[in-house]
Amino acid sequence: MGRLSSIIILLGCLILPSASMLNQGKSNPYDLSNIIYTTSGITATATYHLGNLQSANETVITKLFLNITYDNPQRVRIRITDQQNSRFEVPYDFTNYTIQGNLGLYNVTVSDNPMGIQVIRTSDNRVIFNLDPSNWFSYDDQDLLFTSTFNYGINVLGLGERISSFILPTGTYTMWARDRQSPVDNGQSQEGNMYSVHPFYMIIDEDTGSAFGGLFYNANAMQAIVGPQSLSFRSTGGIIDLWLFIGPAPEDVVFQYHQLIGPPVEVPYWSLGWHQSRWGYRNISMLTQVYDNYTLYGLPLDGLWNDIDYMSAFEDFIYDPVNYPMNNVTQLVDTLLATGKNYIPIVDAGIAQNISDPYYINGTNQGVWIMNPYVQSAPCVGKVWPGNATFLDWLNPDAQTYWVKALNTFQQLVSFSGVWVDMNEVSNFVNGCVGYQTTLINNLTMPWTPGQDINVESLDVAATHANGVTEYNMHSLYGYLESKAAAQYFIQKQTRPFILSRSSFPGHGKWASKWLGDNFSQWSYMEYSITGIFNFGMFGIPMMGADICGFLGNTNLELCSRWTQLGTMYPFSRNHNEDESIPQEPWAFGPLLLETNNLSIRNKYMLQLYFYTHMMKISLEGGQLFKPAYWEYPNDMNLLYNATTSFMLGKALIVHPCLWYGITGSTSFFPDDMWYDLYTGEYIFLDYDNSVYLDMPWPGLINIHVAQGFIIPIVDNYNNAMSLRDTRYSNISLIIVQGPGVEAIGSVIFDDGSTYGNMANGNYLEVEYQFFSHNSTFDYLTLQQLSYGYSRQTGEWPYISTLIFYGCTAAPESVYKLSSGMIPTFIPANVYWSAEDMICKIWLKNYLQPDEMATLLIDYFI
Ligand code: NOJ
Repeated sequence: MGRLSSIIILLGCLILPSASMLNQGKSNPYDLSNIIYTTSGITATATYHLGNLQSANETVITKLFLNITYDNPQRVRIRITDQQNSRFEVPYDFTNYTIQGNLGLYNVTVSDNPMGIQVIRTSDNRVIFNLDPSNWFSYDDQDLLFTSTFNYGINVLGLGERISSFILPTGTYTMWARDRQSPVDNGQSQEGNMYSVHPFYMIIDEDTGSAFGGLFYNANAMQAIVGPQSLSFRSTGGIIDLWLFIGPAPEDVVFQYHQLIGPPVEVPYWSLGWHQSRWGYRNISMLTQVYDNYTLYGLPLDGLWNDIDYMSAFEDFIYDPVNYPMNNVTQLVDTLLATGKNYIPIVDAGIAQNISDPYYINGTNQGVWIMNPYVQSAPCVGKVWPGNATFLDWLNPDAQTYWVKALNTFQQLVSFSGVWVDMNEVSNFVNGCVGYQTTLINNLTMPWTPGQDINVESLDVAATHANGVTEYNMHSLYGYLESKAAAQYFIQKQTRPFILSRSSFPGHGKWASKWLGDNFSQWSYMEYSITGIFNFGMFGIPMMGADICGFLGNTNLELCSRWTQLGTMYPFSRNHNEDESIPQEPWAFGPLLLETNNLSIRNKYMLQLYFYTHMMKISLEGGQLFKPAYWEYPNDMNLLYNATTSFMLGKALIVHPCLWYGITGSTSFFPDDMWYDLYTGEYIFLDYDNSVYLDMPWPGLINIHVAQGFIIPIVDNYNNAMSLRDTRYSNISLIIVQGPGVEAIGSVIFDDGSTYGNMANGNYLEVEYQFFSHNSTFDYLTLQQLSYGYSRQTGEWPYISTLIFYGCTAAPESVYKLSSGMIPTFIPANVYWSAEDMICKIWLKNYLQPDEMATLLIDYFI
């Protein structure tokens, strides 16, 4: 079929009204027949009750195919497709997908007349999905609607992207990728949707605190309707493809979800450092000055970013010869690389429609653009920073080749270490294709409105991709597919991709990272950043951050200081703002901010091995680094209801940020455990309600406490490192949080920090440290290699210099290393004990390498 005829068919489909869509769906109009039960699932045919037709011109899909698959004991898939016609399906990227069967952890039942589906978790008989026959269900061209009801109260999380509280209030949540400047969404406006689309939810059972989740794998404009005891999804197309994750703990759901979509890509070692950016470094001198100031003020820096200011007429990949002469750019980038730092330029989605722009010429010659539905062989032209611009059609394999080639050409010009892909919702400053009247389709031709009209500030939804697929279906996939294509550029070089994208979709984390986009320089947005990072951690994108100090509007000294304290605990930490706001670099407000920045950034560098080890493990197993305390302590629902007042980094560390102006301390709540101040080792005596007043010094460090039972590796040279590269050549200390009769555990992953696939290929060294509190006279510390795939290079992490014990109740006397025959060799060490503070220190004098297979015996005075 020619492109034009498929367009006409599509347009026909767009304008056909369907009576069922004009109302709110209907009580289940289908019956099930041909029900077949197998060991791996259930299949059936769903037939429409024709008697339900409300008018003669109503279009309905009369026969559906139901396919329920018992993917594995923790996951079940419910797919409902049109039995007679194929419909748009999301290009599928779940390479880990396997079907193993149920093993009895859930039961699925179906009812035939009318059609119903129930999934029950067997451990507690909770109904985790209930397609209730008495609730709405539609399966039409532009109206897929299904509802799950529960016989208990629910707290719904997820359903991004939006700015919202962590628990979503009852209401309606739109999902359609959109460039919007951070409206707060409380479920009432239906227009709070932002850059990404993640129809993933987690439900926390209000009675029991247990959790389960679901992914509605559909990319069309849609809404989720959250009720007190129900959750509905309503989409404008595609199919019903629903994966359910049975939990029962919140973190189980996260792992079960990540197992499906694939764990996130490994991050380069350097990317976990501190980053500086802004829109408004108008020329290379300004950018160079930023680098010089970092050096002048002795502040560490790992990434220097270049916004659209570098571009000539805002054309991707092309430097402005006047403001950014290539020689000077190269000189700066060379200096950055020589000092262990990195350069990350922005690349926008729209390629300038300029007949002398080589990237436009190549794309046109290769036929890789999204096309205009109204004119044969013309691209759908949008308007972005450069004016008219064209966009890549990611369904066309040539577009991927084009993108990799463009990045290769760019690399020949400038040695970038990562790319920042922006405006990829895609954002369009006009409606539809330039020069062609776009029909605002929602009210005219669509049966219902998914928030704002979907043709507003997007490419025309009738615009076409390869094989006649339309933007109507593809729109929300742009950022994800663009990032995936960009990742191939890095992977072909065997380097880890570092791609910061604004838009994303399920599966994105396997290729790229994301930041939260254009936030406001306001206290509330600082707090919303915590929710945002929690959510994207759940969505499988752990390398997340928000613009530190805020992007829109002017920040101030106190906000920027507090935000830097918090922001350095994000996995991705970047100070960035817009061109019209006042400067907010660390030196912008004088010595107070400078001091806070210095302390905070160095704090992050001190914890680099802790952050990196977690990120690497997550890249193998899934999971979250930055997460709600409730994940670790699911018995305390107060932690869920007050989720943003603290967060955990891994299992061991809890952070209490200061989220309010004008205060220097606050009553803070802790999970039920034994906590020690990370910096001082002070034991925290909690009140009956697990609260304690914490000083929140400013300037000063953010509150971090460590739970008993863990060993935290500390990079010794954090006070003089100027980039994370320096931390690779530092001794390590171990903070061992003990307690009478308590074991403590921790681990470290070492590798080259840059090659793609090190974890999957076993090219890393993992050392586990385990401390056994034996009795009052001696303890053991064992060092054990769990994986041997990397040898530390000359000078890398040379020794364990210090053992620091919190909760230590006796004075260490001497230390012995036990060799294989368990013969103790005395090792000289200096020892220290403060009975009052319960802190011991042992300085080992370069006798223990961090990956030695060794057992230390620590002898105490009695
Ligand atoms: C929008 C992005 O969200 C922002 O971070 C960037 O500075 C501007 N585009 C300009 O490129």
